[in-house]
Amino acid sequence: MRVIVESGPNEVAQTAAQFVARLVRRRPTCVLGLATGSTPLGLYAELVRLHRDEGLDFSRVVTFNLDEYVGLGPNDPQSYRYFMNENLFHHINIDPRNTHVPDGRALDFESHCEQYERLIQEEGGIDLQVLGIGSDGHIAFNEPGSSLGSRTRLKTLTSETVQDNARFFARLEDVPRLAITMGVGTILESRQCLVLACGQSKAQAIRATVEGPVTAQVTASALQFHRSAIAVLDESAASLLERREYYREVEESQRRLEQGPHA
Ligand code: F6R
Repeated sequence: MRVIVESGPNEVAQTAAQFVARLVRRRPTCVLGLATGSTPLGLYAELVRLHRDEGLDFSRVVTFNLDEYVGLGPNDPQSYRYFMNENLFHHINIDPRNTHVPDGRALDFESHCEQYERLIQEEGGIDLQVLGIGSDGHIAFNEPGSSLGSRTRLKTLTSETVQDNARFFARLEDVPRLAITMGVGTILESRQCLVLACGQSKAQAIRATVEGPVTAQVTASALQFHRSAIAVLDESAASLLERREYYREVEESQRRLEQGPHA
């Protein structure tokens, strides 16, 4: 896994936005996988700025979100569809028909999940999947113990995740206990994965993800099997990594290579 350590959350957002913007410029019809939560907010703000100030064109981009709470509709301010509309989609020139978020009020969840997987395939697969990470090491809502081969399905959230997400709800009892989520297997099929993490509360999960054994108890650790997974971290989230110095050297060599042989 490539590890990029930035000084703070703003720098993480800038670096992540550069990865996304480069892809959108190179491939205007690309398929992006998107996440919700606090972590990607800076990334989305920067993409909105790049669209406004530099004309970054999303008109032919297709998106698939990782997950949605069961029971919440698109107009519910706590739903992930609402979050995406408010923080990204309504501020860029994306075609709403090209934005996909699982339907938390689907009548038949099994067939809805199968259809979501099929739709990803029909669009040619995800080019770049943006991921946050839970304090328990989850990606999307693949809680500890999820199969590393899992596909889009319903998942029961752990009490730790419910507690973490309670900050967005008026009362703890209002946090849904069930979500539709892409599986680890679905995520691993993306051509590139970009996992973002900021803050001390993510340091343990990042250490387990990057340097621990691959285990279903930390589903993000499955990214070690991915041929193109990049972690963009701030200093606090990277603070428990043992091989930080090596990751810095790798990035330094990479920079020198990009500058050409005589730089
Ligand atoms: C959200 C998602 C989750 C979050 C994770 C971190 O779509 O899939 O895995 O990325 O829970 O959330 P934050 O960024 O709020 O700490």
